[in-house]
Amino acid sequence: METLVVKSSDKKGIKKASGLIKKGEVVAFPTETVYGLGADALNRKAVLKIFKAKKRPADNPLIVHIANEKQLGLLVEYIPESAYKLIKKFWPGPLTIILKKKKKVPSVTTGGLNTVAVRMPSNETALELIKKSNPLAAPSANLSGKASPTTAKHVYEDMKGRIPLIIDGGKTKIGIESTVVDLSSKKPVLLRPGKITAEQLIKILGSLEIPASVYGKKVSKAMAPGMKYRHYSPDAKVILVYGKKSKAKIRTLVKNYKKEKLKTAVIGFEYYSADYNCICVTEKDMTKKLFSKFRDFDLKKTDIIIVEGVDEIGLGLGLMNRLKKASTEIIKT
Ligand code: TXA
Ligand code: MG
Repeated sequence: METLVVKSSDKKGIKKASGLIKKGEVVAFPTETVYGLGADALNRKAVLKIFKAKKRPADNPLIVHIANEKQLGLLVEYIPESAYKLIKKFWPGPLTIILKKKKKVPSVTTGGLNTVAVRMPSNETALELIKKSNPLAAPSANLSGKASPTTAKHVYEDMKGRIPLIIDGGKTKIGIESTVVDLSSKKPVLLRPGKITAEQLIKILGSLEIPASVYGKKVSKAMAPGMKYRHYSPDAKVILVYGKKSKAKIRTLVKNYKKEKLKTAVIGFEYYSADYNCICVTEKDMTKKLFSKFRDFDLKKTDIIIVEGVDEIGLGLGLMNRLKKASTEIIKT
């Protein structure tokens, strides 16, 4: 299959994309978080093609992307007051809400669950595409297990020959996936931390359960089906270093790996080494660039990526969640 790449400003290209979706095909599109791999959420066969293109396990459910509140009513049984409050404050935006699904949402879309994850992205291209077709089931547009794509080039690396079209909307603004909150039972539960922080959610919901898995702890019975799979893994070994003495520890590691002649990269909050590849960022910048740096370092055949961790508050919780999942070794100092 040939994979066409069109610019988000190309009206004909967008028309072609919505035509493909109507025919039950899969199209990659930009959102404010990461790129998505979209198909008509209500078309079983189309949704199955997403799982195939991504090599995603069938029990890992997809997020359904909508363009207006009316579409939410098509997908869910009941909208609780708490959901209305979150929607008013955060949609369109990087927040996914899980609610009880209507029968007509196919079980392939929801990984066999009786709930459905819904979000309204704040990206013009995504909204335009959804309006022209139907609600779009869309996971991140990477091969299963790889870092989520933040540029159309990343999508092309993973999806070339696997899908017919990619819409190029430039670099995504946020860089990590949406916050996921489960409102399908009595108590709200945070399933995936992100740009909309736990603190922001608590302000509106009053309370929020944060399972240990959000802090990267292994749980026997994963609450979000996606949690049990290894994520975001570059080919390089990723070492996460955090805590009070992280800076000294990183310097020692860099020195040691240099002696061993291993190609080492550091993503941190100060400049650690001129030797191979050291990137000095802020917390916000790290969130934005992390996945794209993982991909860059793989292309450069880096052996070790050392990443400096942050405190698990605010956006830091979302960042540390991704870092812990990507790491082969975690060092708390
Ligand atoms: O920012 C995002 O959310 C991106 C863009 C494309 O919108 N999408 C994304 O989708 O990250 P995906 O499939 O990579 O992650 C969806 C997560 C998975 O961890 C999945 O297990 C969980 O949401 N999820 C989806 N439906 C669920 C449900 N009904 N119950 C529990 N977890 C669910
Ligand atoms: Mg994903």
